[in-house]
Amino acid sequence: MYASASARIWVTGASTGIGAALVKTLIARGARVAVTARRRDLLEQIARDHGGPDGSRVLVVPADVTDHDAVVAAARQIEAAWGGIDLAIFNAGGVIEGDFIATMTLNYFSVVYGIEAVLNGMLARGRGHIAAVASLAGYRPGPVATEYGASKAAVIFLMDGLRFTLEPRGVRVTVINPGFVRTPLTDRHTFHMPFLVEVDDAAERIVRGLERGKKEIHFPAPMSWGAKLLRVLPYPVYARLIRTLQPTPAKAEPPR
Ligand SMILES: NC(=O)c1ccc[n+]([C@@H]2O[C@H](COP(=O)([O-])OP(=O)(O)OC[C@H]3O[C@@H](n4cnc5c(N)ncnc54)[C@H](OP(=O)(O)O)[C@@H]3O)[C@@H](O)[C@H]2O)c1
Repeated sequence: MYASASARIWVTGASTGIGAALVKTLIARGARVAVTARRRDLLEQIARDHGGPDGSRVLVVPADVTDHDAVVAAARQIEAAWGGIDLAIFNAGGVIEGDFIATMTLNYFSVVYGIEAVLNGMLARGRGHIAAVASLAGYRPGPVATEYGASKAAVIFLMDGLRFTLEPRGVRVTVINPGFVRTPLTDRHTFHMPFLVEVDDAAERIVRGLERGKKEIHFPAPMSWGAKLLRVLPYPVYARLIRTLQPTPAKAEPPR
């Protein structure tokens, strides 16, 4: 489907990192891609670089994904330009350290808004594909980044739950759970990131998984299968193990 020049794909968080690499990879497969993020200048640069001779392969649709009405308006703009959306990849996200509500809005509610915005069109056509980028960090909690992990766990739950009702109606649902990928998000990290994946490699793995219609795309294998193993341990055993692997920060602050 995505190798076809007629595929209409919406990628949020397309200005940098995984989203920008996905745009490049999808365009190389022959698709048309609508790109959303807040930084219009970066999106316009992507359109100049990858939009083709007449620029028609990339549609620039800047929006703040934490703004419900802006997300719905973005979807309407794409549908008006292209007549519909075949695949929506809700990738925008990040870490807002210590702010549980803002992190949930950015990583989880943005996906809910996006699904709401594209779903009626897909159901009316009886086909479509919705994907969201969560994280292996959403599998099980550790002593750090609880706000981020909780928001990604919610995305995993959302996608795995919606699949039951949407797939029988022709809408495929994929959740994408990467480990560490080299992007502006992780460039800030000072700690060691095991099995770090380069961003173009991550995009290729994601697009291949989407083409195969996978329910979950997870990588890199040693890390994701290890995380899956930890997921099935009884909590007390898991918690004891994690405490030995990840030191608990000395200060504890209340969530906000
Ligand atoms: N890198 C990793 O190791 C890793 C691992 C697992 C999961 N992930 C997930 O992968 C996704 C992409 O992250 P990345 O690593 O590629 O980071 P990144 O380079 O920082 O990209 C984040 C993207 O989200 C956009 N964004 C952030 N806030 C937004 C908002 N309010 N409205 C619209 N767009 C917004 C940013 O664009 P603007 O700033 O221009 O708006 C940017 O395009 C995120 O959901 C992240 O949680 C990353």
